[in-house]
Amino acid sequence: MLTRRLPGTDLDLSVVGFGAWAIGEKWWGDDVTEARSIAAVHAALDHGYTWFDTAPVYGWGRSEAVLRKALGPRLRDVIVATKVGVREIDGHAQSTLTADWIRQDVDAIRKRLGIETIDLLQVHWPCELGTPLEETFGALDTLRTQGAFRYLGVCNYGADDLRAIRAITPIVSLQTGYSLLRRELEGPLRDTAMALDLGILAYEPLCRGLLSGKFTHTPTFPDTDLRSRDDRFRGRRFLHAKALADDLGKVARRVGVPTAAVAIGWAAAQPGITAVIAGAKGPEQVAQNAQAATLVGQGRLWDVVGRVAAVHGGTPR
Ligand SMILES: NC(=O)c1ccc[n+]([C@@H]2O[C@H](COP(=O)([O-])OP(=O)(O)OC[C@H]3O[C@@H](n4cnc5c(N)ncnc54)[C@H](OP(=O)(O)O)[C@@H]3O)[C@@H](O)[C@H]2O)c1
Repeated sequence: MLTRRLPGTDLDLSVVGFGAWAIGEKWWGDDVTEARSIAAVHAALDHGYTWFDTAPVYGWGRSEAVLRKALGPRLRDVIVATKVGVREIDGHAQSTLTADWIRQDVDAIRKRLGIETIDLLQVHWPCELGTPLEETFGALDTLRTQGAFRYLGVCNYGADDLRAIRAITPIVSLQTGYSLLRRELEGPLRDTAMALDLGILAYEPLCRGLLSGKFTHTPTFPDTDLRSRDDRFRGRRFLHAKALADDLGKVARRVGVPTAAVAIGWAAAQPGITAVIAGAKGPEQVAQNAQAATLVGQGRLWDVVGRVAAVHGGTPR
């Protein structure tokens, strides 16, 4: 698979990375099994994925544990990107970025993954408790010098924070939501990330499955699936997404690839994007998503897809 160097590192990321949220067996319905997840990870290796994105919050450690089991000794041959700073408080996920919690969280990650040094550690989302950036990123700077991780990235921070964090400690990447249905990245955030020479890692490229084109009617999900509470799967927002996915499907059929590959490939082909993280529950999804990498260099295809997206306009509120 096509790889790109994450700026400022020696990490070569496949343009499609494996998103390991769903394999954490929580918040993604009842059809995730360990056997299917392991098959998905093995399929990713077979298709040339070089990196896997996980987090402690994904099943409260379960995603990291399944990933370790599935990768076995190959865990040392691939890049595992995980995240720090979310804590379970009264059953809810809360960003906790005190120096003390960061140290505990990083230790627990290393134990779960069975590694001394994490390849890429990302702060999961900005602090909800008001901890100053200096405390959080100062603590992370120390942990890096102690060998706990090699490179530091952040997720879900805005342009001003990126600059402020960069003044405290080196960071190499910004992970942010980006898809044909979610375009807030385009503008000052992307400009700043690029000016700071950060790699941009785009998550949710399928808009949680919507852009695979598989939903022919308004879907219903069990309570165990976070999409049962996601407005994008209801009413006008769903119809808008479905109309776009239907048109993407027409383009995909002409090219001879799955609709999901076009949605993921579009994100990977946009300026500033180093790699896209595509979530998958099973090997059949990985096989489709991997095809995105074959499309990335096809500029005329992206012109067409850009025009299709423009016809549909922005997502209704
Ligand atoms: N840093 C952050 O704050 C943050 C936030 C969100 C995500 N992420 C990362 O980004 C990754 C990707 O985002 P995401 O998983 O939320 O959303 P996504 O990649 O847009 O969608 C993934 C879901 O779509 C469905 N799917 C995947 N491939 C498919 C295919 N070829 N055909 C049909 N359906 C398919 C699967 O669910 P079903 O089969 O159940 O439909 C899968 O779980 C995550 O796994 C995580 O690693 C990071």
